[in-house]
Amino acid sequence: MTDLNFTHRFVPAQESPAPRALLLLHGTGGDENDMIPLGRDLDPTAALLSPRGNVLENGMPRFFRRLAEGVFDEEDVIRRAHELADFVSAAAARYEFDPNRVTAVGYSNGANIAASILLLRPEVFAGAVLFRAMVPLVPSALPNLAHVRVLISSGEHDPIVPVENAERLAAMLRTAGADVTLRFEPAGHALSLGDIEAAKSW
Ligand code: MLT
Repeated sequence: MTDLNFTHRFVPAQESPAPRALLLLHGTGGDENDMIPLGRDLDPTAALLSPRGNVLENGMPRFFRRLAEGVFDEEDVIRRAHELADFVSAAAARYEFDPNRVTAVGYSNGANIAASILLLRPEVFAGAVLFRAMVPLVPSALPNLAHVRVLISSGEHDPIVPVENAERLAAMLRTAGADVTLRFEPAGHALSLGDIEAAKSW
């Protein structure tokens, strides 16, 4: 059944009716509280929806299973991407935000599940900010993402996500029609101030 089957926080918008919303997606070991301050900083008036990943890896919440660092259980990625996409539409009905004005903001594992939803459920997001994302899966056919804006903010020295992997993700989303900005921060896997500033001006 499609229901609100994620532990989550919701912060109402400061505008109405049918406000836009940010879907905030934490990294491995995070929870529904982590991204709230960043979300408010990026958009002072949007509704904020922040779920906790349903998968546990040694007690650390994630949004899908992995076999090793950077090696994903693709079947689980697909299943969890659909589960989260269904959660977003159920939450839009429950909390009365506009399902056509949802922007994902994800870090690391959260960015990877957001990229998976872009590839598998192209109707869910109007935009996506992907911090330290990589190619999460290669779909059998590319979706139509002509209506979607994407910012990929990657680390030049990220030991987990090689530069060419971030470039491959950008190319894939562009081929699907998305309006993609790919930028590199002189940083590793951790976020830095430059990432936040870039997301704000994007
Ligand atoms: C992932 O598992 O999604 C990536 O390896 C990033 C991470 O969460 O460490």
